[in-house]
Amino acid sequence: MLRFIRPSQSKWSARQSSPVFPVAMLVALLSLVVLVFPAVPAWAAQLPYWNSRIISGTQPFPWHEMRLPQTVVPTHYDLTIHPNLTTLTFTGVVRILVDVLEDVDAIVMHAKDLKTSNVKLTTPQGVRPLQVLENSVYQQLALLSDKVIPKGEDYKIHMEFSANLSDTYHGFYKSSYRTGGGEVRILASTQFEATFARAAFPCFDEPSFKANFTIAIVRESRHVAISNMPKIKTVNLPGNVFEDHFATTVKMSTYLVAFIVSDFHSVSKMTQHGVKISIYAVAEKINQTDFALDAAVRLLDFYDTYFSIPYPLPKQDLAAIPDFQAGAMENWGLTTYREEALLYHPEKSSMADKVQTARIIAHELAHQWFGNLVTMEWWNDLWLNEGFAKFMEFIALDMTYPELEANDLFLGKCYHAMEMDSFLSSHPISTPVENPTEIQEMFDEVSYDKGACVLNMLKDFLTAEAFEVGIIRYLKRYSYRNTANSHLWESLTNICDSNELHDPSPKQREFCWKHGIQSGEGRYEGNKFDIKSIMDTWTLQKGFPLVNIDFKNRKILLSQQRYLKIEKEPAAADDAAITAVKIPENQIWKIPLTYKTSASNTTHHFLMKSAVDLLRIPNQVDWIKFNVDMSGYYIVDYGKDGWKSMIKLLQKNHTALSNKDRASLIHDVFRLVSIEKVSLQTALDLSTYLSKEKDIMAVTQALAELIPIYKMIERREIFLLEESMKVFMLDLFKDLIDSQRWDDSGSTPERTLRSYLLMFACVRNYTPCVSKARQLFNVWKDSGGKTSLPVDTTLAVYAVGAQTAEGWDFLFEHYRQSLQMSVKHRIQVALTISPLRQKLKMILQESLRGEVIKTQDFPDVLVSVSRNPKGQRLAWDFLRANWATLIHKFEIGSSAIAHMVTGVTNPFSTKTMLTSVWKFFNPLTDEMGGDMRCIQQAYDNIAGNVRWAETNFPELQSWLRKRQRFIHEDL
Ligand code: BES
Ligand code: ZN
Repeated sequence: MLRFIRPSQSKWSARQSSPVFPVAMLVALLSLVVLVFPAVPAWAAQLPYWNSRIISGTQPFPWHEMRLPQTVVPTHYDLTIHPNLTTLTFTGVVRILVDVLEDVDAIVMHAKDLKTSNVKLTTPQGVRPLQVLENSVYQQLALLSDKVIPKGEDYKIHMEFSANLSDTYHGFYKSSYRTGGGEVRILASTQFEATFARAAFPCFDEPSFKANFTIAIVRESRHVAISNMPKIKTVNLPGNVFEDHFATTVKMSTYLVAFIVSDFHSVSKMTQHGVKISIYAVAEKINQTDFALDAAVRLLDFYDTYFSIPYPLPKQDLAAIPDFQAGAMENWGLTTYREEALLYHPEKSSMADKVQTARIIAHELAHQWFGNLVTMEWWNDLWLNEGFAKFMEFIALDMTYPELEANDLFLGKCYHAMEMDSFLSSHPISTPVENPTEIQEMFDEVSYDKGACVLNMLKDFLTAEAFEVGIIRYLKRYSYRNTANSHLWESLTNICDSNELHDPSPKQREFCWKHGIQSGEGRYEGNKFDIKSIMDTWTLQKGFPLVNIDFKNRKILLSQQRYLKIEKEPAAADDAAITAVKIPENQIWKIPLTYKTSASNTTHHFLMKSAVDLLRIPNQVDWIKFNVDMSGYYIVDYGKDGWKSMIKLLQKNHTALSNKDRASLIHDVFRLVSIEKVSLQTALDLSTYLSKEKDIMAVTQALAELIPIYKMIERREIFLLEESMKVFMLDLFKDLIDSQRWDDSGSTPERTLRSYLLMFACVRNYTPCVSKARQLFNVWKDSGGKTSLPVDTTLAVYAVGAQTAEGWDFLFEHYRQSLQMSVKHRIQVALTISPLRQKLKMILQESLRGEVIKTQDFPDVLVSVSRNPKGQRLAWDFLRANWATLIHKFEIGSSAIAHMVTGVTNPFSTKTMLTSVWKFFNPLTDEMGGDMRCIQQAYDNIAGNVRWAETNFPELQSWLRKRQRFIHEDL
């Protein structure tokens, strides 16, 4: 039988990591090695990683762990870098002041693909040369001294190095853009998180080795250089080059260092707290930076106040980089962004674009505190950075841009995380990681979205004020230091501890006074909870609970179990896995339950601590809604009668429940269908109320549930069923679609919903939508693309235009010429949903080539093509054919690779496709990405779809038939 077992021993995990190798042992072992085995010892030869590529000397590499020893600690880097944008190479010199904490005769640090030379150590006794050994697999250098380096003295390492600018998106890499006049301009920029500072200069590249950095950049006169700190002087050097010197940074981790050499232009403004904000972009796009500049000023001022800790640097630059793999990066004082994320055009960008820009800036600026000032000790707790930054996006936008109503989007984050977290292949929020691939893989929905959702749940439980006091306490206690989960929980516990109240923060004083702590009149409720023991159940175990409700009049029996879609890791064509064999799961969460009843509108709280619990309510009620506004990370099964009363309530008076509660009922009921706890009929019955729904959250949630079902049918070419499913969906939303105006009026959610609904209706061929869009497209095309279309309608209009070869070519040409990234993005989406196979093939090739459509956009193009029934096969073939190129460009373990793997395979719902996916991925070696978690996730997703289709298609068919009959009889 074919098996999908992930190799348990990968190249990276060949040896178990142990606590840091004590240096005394290292020295002892080294001397033993030298004594007993003068040349390369036989045992070392058997262990390929110990003595991999040696640059000079013949000794084996003296360190055997992936993590660096703690014996030599950097305190200050003096770094000079000179990129040559013509030869696409760079040279540099680094001088590192180190503290030696134990006697050593080797200093182990990081470097990746760097040629080093002239390596010396300055000691109080004078300068001595160091011999360099390299372990390229662990990306480490060992600097060997011929004499012991005694602890306790001041030392300075001196190294010179050189390398090529990278052709990826990591390290010190090349980027380029084309001017309106057709000239190609080159720039060089950095992306160091998580493990790529070592590719730009030799360093101690782990987040807990914080140090100060004094950086100088050599550049030509046509360029500007920027870095984390402001420039303090420029020195003219021979050969008509200039050396810019930057002020010394605060103490920080290597992954936050950044520098850019480019011909960017900039605009600037001061914040109320006196920080200079500048936006950098290519000259022709600098007029699209107004919104980002205002947003950054507003947001930095907000955080200064909210965290009660001033932003410690004199400036913050935000740079839009033409080639950028992620969305943005939080380098301290110099955050970097995709152009599309930062640039905003008041007339051409949509409301959704505006929300996105504000959110991404809010995210990166939140990191200046969560991540930069206080940093996780190691990447296993990445969520302390990313979960917090994601969470703060919503807090900050609520306060600074309430009109954007961004909070509505939070719900979607939790659902997104749950998708991945409902399989065995998920992982706990805090997960041990060691090698660069595993570290990269941490940048996923669990660290970001689940992290943010459990923080939100905790905030709700403790109250917003108490939570704020606690996190300020955390930031203050650990500024310029590193933390693990426990530090956060401690800081949120006993926030009104009387021992500390002689020096409270202003918010703490106010809070604790209000709750009578100082007067001794009362206790703050939150003090009585053991926050660590509650939160450990959310951060140290994977998955999330399903809470079952059993109504017995005024007694409610509650029970919890892990929600698992597939309860066994699937194997190709393994029926047992797909039909889910129950395996015992012994997980318990401490769940801060909330509920509302038909009898009162207040939210009640109940901490469920065991597998079963009993809740008593004072009055008989018609309904109870648990997980109020979906502020908790769990789902709820109300049981047969419970769902009946929910359906009745929605049919009769859906606004008795909040928008978020309605969306959460839709979400939960469909999740329960997937594990066969609730019948599909119940979920569809519940969704019929949607013909009265107008709220964006409920409508988009319903479509997010119904469209994948439709697509599963569409791919199987079951035409009759496809048609009736389409009719059902259009019926539900027909009134709402018909009421949409083809202009840009209304509030943010109204405009966002309009854009979404028109696209949905046109793609599903709803005639009134298609004819209106076609008419608008033709007028626009006849004007040569000069007339302006209402922004909210453009996606639908372009999508209809791209259905014909002529329309497609026109759009492609418009894409080539446009300078507005949001316009380009919408055209890109339209081009990928065309039914024309040749065009789909061309766009895949084109975006991989990177000439017109940048390679950075390839992952989105590929996934979008794969969602198109005409492109599904094409995308899967293309992914396989170009696998080696893609993993070089985007790096194994990156979220871009994971996005492609899960995105392209997500729509598959047959055993044949499961086998095809397995046949490709299973033979891949670790070097080719074979041990990535996303592969297991792909199998899980497909197995889940196969199971869904097998159990639910017959029921779907009969339900739709019944409904059609019912409607006909009604007519
Ligand atoms: N720290 C990340 C950037 C990053 C991502 C570095 C992956 C290394 C690997 C940054 O703060 C981030 O989270 N960016 C997000 C955008 C944000 C708005 C969620 C991104 O790039 O998707
Ligand atoms: Zn982030």
